[in-house]
Amino acid sequence: AGVYTYDPGFQCTASCSSAITFIDGDKGQCNYRGYPVDQIAQSSNFLEVSYLLLNGEMPTPEEMQEFDSEIKQHMIIKTKMLSFFNSMPSAAHPMAQMTSVVAGLSAFYPVSLDPKDHKQHMEAAIRMVAKMPMISALIYRNSLGLPAVYPRSDFTYAENLLYMMFSNPTHTTFPQNEKVFKAAAKAIDVFLILHADHEQNASTSTVRIAGSSQANPYAAVSAGIASLWGPAHGGANEAVIQMLEEIGTKENVAEFVRKVKNKEAGVRLMGFGHRVYKNYDPRAKYFKTLVGEVLDGMDIQDPKLEVARELERIALEDEYFIKRKLYPNVDFYTGIMLRAIGIPTSMFTVMFALARTVGWITQWKEMVEEKGFRISRPRQIYIGAPERKLP
Ligand code: CMC
Repeated sequence: AGVYTYDPGFQCTASCSSAITFIDGDKGQCNYRGYPVDQIAQSSNFLEVSYLLLNGEMPTPEEMQEFDSEIKQHMIIKTKMLSFFNSMPSAAHPMAQMTSVVAGLSAFYPVSLDPKDHKQHMEAAIRMVAKMPMISALIYRNSLGLPAVYPRSDFTYAENLLYMMFSNPTHTTFPQNEKVFKAAAKAIDVFLILHADHEQNASTSTVRIAGSSQANPYAAVSAGIASLWGPAHGGANEAVIQMLEEIGTKENVAEFVRKVKNKEAGVRLMGFGHRVYKNYDPRAKYFKTLVGEVLDGMDIQDPKLEVARELERIALEDEYFIKRKLYPNVDFYTGIMLRAIGIPTSMFTVMFALARTVGWITQWKEMVEEKGFRISRPRQIYIGAPERKLP
């Protein structure tokens, strides 16, 4: 017997020390390696941010060039992996496909867990970040019965994602024109940056716990993807769209909020509240502006944006939400933006997983390279029957 701290849901337990991401939930602040995320989103691209997360510093132009070419070199997945997709039913949930395919990468790339083998860990990290756009695009195309599209070396990471998802022989880049393609890719790039890491959330903690047994990192990341799947975590942006569609018009918002408060709606206000942020999520603040710009740039009028803005206005003035410090989180506006770009709702969590892969693998790398790293093994408070005799 021992004395344990009982902390269900880990509300006040630090499970590790980390030098990657800092969050001040009361101030609504989030920094990657010391840099505020909203500032990074304005001045960097996703691959620079990936380099920053993995290496701790922003790259020099030479370092960036090398990193970019390493990523491009690993973007294509092996032909044998394509048969993974062929064996899935076309109606398979995108996240069901993603968890299996990413775990399947372990079969192709064994990784040594030697804590000193920094080079091999970095190789696994680069490979995983590089392959996610093609995996995500194949998941989408599988649902439509379309063949694979391969990446192009002249496209950025985000451009390649859209290209591999949407191009076909009659539309070489994107269903719309070049200007819209570039604008959509820029918005996706910002989405990727703002979702790249978020310290010890459920999926990241899952990656660390799975990896702490010295499991292959691809399998550990697949465990993280499984954790992200749920509506309380990565599935929330999908749930936000369903909620906004259910509300329908601006006039119905007040009544919906009343039902949520009285717990009659059957759901919480999706895209609201956060375990750590007790203030406006800085990422949500950024997306609130960006979603309007993307819709304007694509000449789209989406009534859901009006409903979302009204929902936010009413909730932020309401005693229930004020008292509980419930503010919009990152998922509140991103779904509207992704839909405008043409990403179907069922693919939203895949987009989140694609972006978070660099965070997961950076956290895994930090853990396995840490001096004295040990397997995670929480205890419990046993509440079952005392020892007894078999009848
Ligand atoms: N709408 C209405 N009430 C809420 C909400 C909400 N979205 N979130 C929390 N509350 C209430 C909750 O009912 C409780 O009040 P009471 O004590 O009267 O029952 C109080 O606020 C505290 O709730 P909690 O469940 O103890 O809070 P938590 O820190 O465990 O949960 C959360 C955090 C994100 C799971 C929760 O806020 C939630 O379910 N939000 C909606 C889903 C969502 O948007 N998730 C995305 C999270 S951010 C992205 C990510 O991590 O993937």
